[in-house]
Amino acid sequence: MMKKRILSGMRPTGKLHLGHYTGALENWVKMQDEYENFHLVADYHVLTTKLDTSDIYNDSIEMVIDWLAVGLDPKKVKIFRQSQIKEHTELFLILAMLITTSRLERNPSLKEQVRDLNIQHVVYGHLGYPVLQAADILIYKGELVPVGEDQVPHVEITREIARKFNSHFGDVFPEPEPLLTVFARLAGLDGKAKMSKSLGNAILLSDEPEIVKQKMRKAVTDPLKIHKNDPGRPEVCVVYSYHQKFNTEESDQIAADCRSGKLGCVECKLRASAKISAFLEPIIEKRKKYEADISLVLDVIDKGERAARKVAVETMTEVRTNMKIG
Ligand code: TRP
Repeated sequence: MMKKRILSGMRPTGKLHLGHYTGALENWVKMQDEYENFHLVADYHVLTTKLDTSDIYNDSIEMVIDWLAVGLDPKKVKIFRQSQIKEHTELFLILAMLITTSRLERNPSLKEQVRDLNIQHVVYGHLGYPVLQAADILIYKGELVPVGEDQVPHVEITREIARKFNSHFGDVFPEPEPLLTVFARLAGLDGKAKMSKSLGNAILLSDEPEIVKQKMRKAVTDPLKIHKNDPGRPEVCVVYSYHQKFNTEESDQIAADCRSGKLGCVECKLRASAKISAFLEPIIEKRKKYEADISLVLDVIDKGERAARKVAVETMTEVRTNMKIG
């Protein structure tokens, strides 16, 4: 049986953190045998909110190193940069004719970004963000798109555009389905928001044990547990949420000892740090191997881009044939 095709993507933000792992990468790694996986570095998408392009290349490489370090196997998956496959922009142009501006203005993630980044005037390309994303998915005839809740509206727009194309020019594209990530976004060390590099509340996948310990020391715990032996409430503590994820076997006991006041926060944080560092150790080791010989990474990307381009060129030939323009 033909394996179903998955298209997943991430904007390059440089080195990734634990939240990227629990929210996406863990799933990607699990899916690499069952599906045919295309992993896209959405480097052009960065331009929608940032015109300073000086970090895009390096951020892309760092991100790919983390993808490989957590266990994506380049023999099984394709890893490539959006900007290197010109067919994305060609399809983007055509798809841009199949959706109205008012539909794009209603996109909730656009509204969120405009609010969060305090954007005064939305550029045309930012409004078109989901159309480029639709091109990313459809050019590979992606059937499943692993995403968090926040990206579901983009997959919905992709489906609408695919339907419009198919009904107008004949069937070319499957209608992709979102594959919702099971584990909710990991909380940041400040306990306020999800883990995010720009908020400075993240543990990076490349953080050495000493750094993990230092960062953990600042993690916010139950504000009512002031003294070591005060009873605490694990359900409001981010450190406990890390135990649940990275120290699952001991987490019930930790919750009980926190509640009874037997376990203090200092000790609890040290134990969480140790577990996280044990989890990160093989990832860091693998990262070092790639850092020591960056040509290994470039080879993976080069191979991925050749394979992706081949598929993209085929799809565009079909698109132009169906549109009677090629
Ligand atoms: N919009 C996604 C994000 O911000 C990144 C992305 C771009 C993407 N193209 C994609 C995700 C295609 C899935 C499929 O996270």
